[in-house]
Amino acid sequence: MNRTWTPRTWREKPVKYMPDDYPDLRALTRVESELSKLPPLVHPAETRRLTAALAQVSQGKAFLLQGGDCAESFKEFTTDNIRDTFRLILQMAIVLTFAGGRPVVKVGRIAGQFAKPRSSPVETLDGVTLPAYRGDIINGMDFDAAERTPDPKRLLKAYHQSSATLNLLRAYSGGGYEDLCNLHRWTLDFVAASPQGEPYRKLADSIFESLCFMSALCPAPDHTPAPPTVELFTSHEALLLNFEEALTRQEPSTNHWYDASAHMLWIGERTRQLDGGHVEFMRGLRNPIGVKCGPTMEPDDLLRLMDVLNPEGLPGRLTLIGRFGADKVADCLPRLMAATRQDGRPVIWSIDPMHGNTHKASNGYKTRAFDRVLSEVKGFLQVASAEGVHPGGIHLEMTGQNVTECLGGPRAVTEDDLSSRYHTHCDPRLNADQALQLSFLVAEKLHALKSPRARAA
Ligand code: PEP
Ligand code: CO
Repeated sequence: MNRTWTPRTWREKPVKYMPDDYPDLRALTRVESELSKLPPLVHPAETRRLTAALAQVSQGKAFLLQGGDCAESFKEFTTDNIRDTFRLILQMAIVLTFAGGRPVVKVGRIAGQFAKPRSSPVETLDGVTLPAYRGDIINGMDFDAAERTPDPKRLLKAYHQSSATLNLLRAYSGGGYEDLCNLHRWTLDFVAASPQGEPYRKLADSIFESLCFMSALCPAPDHTPAPPTVELFTSHEALLLNFEEALTRQEPSTNHWYDASAHMLWIGERTRQLDGGHVEFMRGLRNPIGVKCGPTMEPDDLLRLMDVLNPEGLPGRLTLIGRFGADKVADCLPRLMAATRQDGRPVIWSIDPMHGNTHKASNGYKTRAFDRVLSEVKGFLQVASAEGVHPGGIHLEMTGQNVTECLGGPRAVTEDDLSSRYHTHCDPRLNADQALQLSFLVAEKLHALKSPRARAA
């Protein structure tokens, strides 16, 4: 498919899950034009660093941890929220690095994850039908006709919120997060506070010792400890293409096009049609991209998508994010993995154990059972091992806040607990304890895969 591409060619294709009911299209065009003149949120050099890091993942030398909110919101935009998500990603990365034995590439679902594909375009409550909530970048969550009308000004608000979020993340990453040295203490607190954390005490202690040893080895020239720095990349689903197009810029030195709204973007399960606008838009970008792969994907669909999205097989360019459900992963994944292995072009296989494992609790809350989440991850690792493919990463909906949205986990959240701290704007997220527990379990499995003795056994 070598037809001319521009950031606008998606407009000639059918698009799904995008709003078609903006009351004032001229106002939308004015906002797009305003956005296209605003500074990029991320720089191509950073995006290239992520591609290079993901190339390492595709060779089995590193692991990808991607996680954050299902949907960011204007209302839950607070320093605490950003800090706690940053902290959680880092805590998990430390566990995975030390126990899994590979560097961890850290990518947040953050600073731009605002648009949601909804299964129904409308919602009916007490006999009243209104357009469904589509994420704060499009309309508002309150069940009210004015709120549910798409408003172009929301694109600008999402841009500025993303910019402020990135500003804080960059400050934290560059050494401004004073508590970075305490990260592991909190992990130890988790181990101490939860009976399910106890089996990890030894591992947690040895991570702590290694960290102390390393900080003693690398004092700054003035003998004060150097502030630790880390790199956290950003990502979101490229769903609202009006926004993505307006943030897409050509780098003068290379002529390559980068979507400057995030380092990595992904195509959702519902918008991966080969001839659709979302695939068209993404094929022209140089960013690393993800594609969600659900139970209906056939090997041939996947290979055709690879032909369009990564024809030359650039390492680090394409991450395939399986999301089948705990009971389908063993059925669906082997043939897809076999197809990419035989094809030979490098891809990263990652697992999203969230979106295939959602159900309604008896009290009506949309939830996910931690055990099923875990079971899909285990299934993924088993299939990867049987197919001789590197299990490259995990993709999670999670928050650093102590919410009660998913069932089970270290503090055994029950259906009755769901109502106490259910804050998500869309899907249920793992809370910090559940996410940390998951990372210990994944680290343990990765460690077992890595050790030659375990492989021979
Ligand atoms: C998501 O990641 O928020 C999402 C909607 O996932 P999927 O496209 O896999 O359903
Ligand atoms: Co979701």
